[in-house]
Amino acid sequence: MKSNTRAKISAVGHYVPDYVLTNKELETMVETNDEWIRTRTGISERRLLKDPEKASAFMAAEAAKEILEQRNISADEIDAIIVATVTPDYMFPATACLAQTMIGAHSAFAYDLSAACSGFLYALTTGTTMIESGRYKKVLVIGSDKMSSIVDFTDRTTCILFGDAAAGVLLEPSDDENGVIDHIMQSSAEGAKALIQAGGGSINPATHETVEKKMHYIRQDGRPVFKRATEGMADVSEAIMKKNNLSADDIDWLVPHQANLRIIDATARRMDLDKSKVMINIEKYGNTTAATIPLCLYDWKDKLNKGDNLVLVAFGGGYTWGASYVKWSM
Ligand SMILES: CC(C)(COP(=O)(O)OP(=O)(O)OC[C@H]1O[C@@H](n2cnc3c(N)ncnc32)[C@H](O)[C@@H]1OP(=O)(O)O)[C@@H](O)C(=O)NCCC(=O)NCCS
Repeated sequence: MKSNTRAKISAVGHYVPDYVLTNKELETMVETNDEWIRTRTGISERRLLKDPEKASAFMAAEAAKEILEQRNISADEIDAIIVATVTPDYMFPATACLAQTMIGAHSAFAYDLSAACSGFLYALTTGTTMIESGRYKKVLVIGSDKMSSIVDFTDRTTCILFGDAAAGVLLEPSDDENGVIDHIMQSSAEGAKALIQAGGGSINPATHETVEKKMHYIRQDGRPVFKRATEGMADVSEAIMKKNNLSADDIDWLVPHQANLRIIDATARRMDLDKSKVMINIEKYGNTTAATIPLCLYDWKDKLNKGDNLVLVAFGGGYTWGASYVKWSM
């Protein structure tokens, strides 16, 4: 067993549903307008998984299939699958187990990880450590969220923000200096009440009353979350740069969680980064929670070069937040 191995990202895959929910269509559903949504959030449209038979496990499996195809390996070769999600198909069994069986990864063990919008980065940290230990050779790390299953489409403060998607990466041992170099991950329940799905868990098990009170939906107090997300994303990006002696010139790409364009802009400004180095696709997908960062990696994969320095950064419910420093390996 070899230790001190670095983990590299060796493939990227994604799944986005076909149905496009535009700002125009939202105008017919709640008191809002395209101009407000675009200027306050940067979002023009988002995807919804309309098929009631399909949910996060299906999307995770589709993303995984694309990863396997890209890497040209069979599902049997996968050692472990981590699915970051806050919209699991069920409380249990884990969405990762369902996806594992859908793709036929019979030799793997699979589990879910819950860290809301930071879920992918937390899962990347965990998967990286598994590869670094030398014990595992191929770990799938996927973010998958069917946010439409917990969005109240009569609440204009949240229903404009979220979309459905899955995306992820394959982690393998690196044979050069490229790979996942460093992480700073943080959390605090200080904002637990500001961003929450309060019903359905063990403190408020589902009852007629919890459903009547719409506690099964996501609730967000936008202003404090916006303020804390802006500080958190900027602070942790600056911290990972300092820790790794990176100047703005050293960074090729910022890969930010896509919650709000104004938060992304503030993060880039604090890092002194030109906007041309920032991956932004929020206009097409909205906030897909655990899927945003790998979805950016997927959309930009043809523009990335081996050795490029990437800073991945997220903030989300919990609160959870963090940044990863990755030297691109493909
Ligand atoms: C949700 C969010 C876009 C709202 O933007 P905002 O600039 O903070 O807006 P506010 O909540 O202050 O609301 C401003 C006004 O717009 C109104 N408004 C809210 N949603 C609206 C909508 N969809 N359409 C039109 N008006 C809306 C509000 O009612 C408020 O009206 P008032 O001033 O008469 O009370 C923003 O707070 C946000 O992005 N928050 C953080 C999201 C996030 O990062 N989540 C974390 C990780 S997932």
